[in-house]
Amino acid sequence: DEIKIFCPATIANVSCGFDVLGLALDGVGDEMVVRKTDQRGVSIKKITGQDLPLDPQKNVAGAAVLALLDAYDGDAGFEIEIDKRIKPGSGIGSSAASAAGAVWAVNQLLGNPFTKLQLVAFAMQGEKVASGVAHADNVAPAIYGGFTLVRSYHPLDVVALPSPKELYAIVIHPQIEIKTADSRKVIKANISLEKGIKQWGNLAGLVAGLFTEDYDLIGRSLEDHIIEPIRSILIPGFDDIKAASMAAGALGCGISGSGPSIFALSKRSDKAQNVAAAMKDTYQKLNVDFDVHVSKIN
Ligand code: HSE
Repeated sequence: DEIKIFCPATIANVSCGFDVLGLALDGVGDEMVVRKTDQRGVSIKKITGQDLPLDPQKNVAGAAVLALLDAYDGDAGFEIEIDKRIKPGSGIGSSAASAAGAVWAVNQLLGNPFTKLQLVAFAMQGEKVASGVAHADNVAPAIYGGFTLVRSYHPLDVVALPSPKELYAIVIHPQIEIKTADSRKVIKANISLEKGIKQWGNLAGLVAGLFTEDYDLIGRSLEDHIIEPIRSILIPGFDDIKAASMAAGALGCGISGSGPSIFALSKRSDKAQNVAAAMKDTYQKLNVDFDVHVSKIN
């Protein structure tokens, strides 16, 4: 009655899909062990790698499991151990990995009473503890894998999207922390019709590109005229990294989630490595400490 799982990091927004689009990264993530116990409820036994609250109400994994147990018809108890490898405030869904991983594992141990969509709803309660907002664009891809679209929040409607076979994501993380709650405060609540038209054109273009494996269309659609101009100011060397990645052959480049990580998408693994090298080189020249990952999107 114990399960050990990998909890993937995720890129939310993907430029044109603020709060609705996300993708899961292969090989970047946390590890978690979840155990069934006789003790009702949930206890966070141990967290290695980061200093995070163990109180289940204040812990994102704990809060997500409590939401699940609230909806569960029966008695059950769980212990959780997390090896936290994704840094909080890095922009690749650190809190989502814990929230999504915990409810996924608990559901397995209970014999899968809940659907993926229900698990997303429970995991969103963890996100609420982390940032004050129950956004689903990180937890949905963490649970479904690949690309996901949150078509609607009320009612919750998640659509799994296909990933073109040769699509890779590169993520570079400048070693600063930006809390999602803070980076949501700087964005504006209203947008112009003109900007809306650009954004939903791109979002539909990106989704069409994923279905038709049209890499150029995916590239053309990776634009953000609403959030990126504001949030990028908080990210060291953002314009230089973007220019370097595009010059190295990236399809597109933008802010990963609420930052400070920057992502690029690329066709083929060799090109992705070139893009990663160009981004790396840029931060080395600017004297910015970073780490960088290349992942296949599955
Ligand atoms: N859509 C959220 C935001 C993702 O950009 O604030 C946070 O990871």
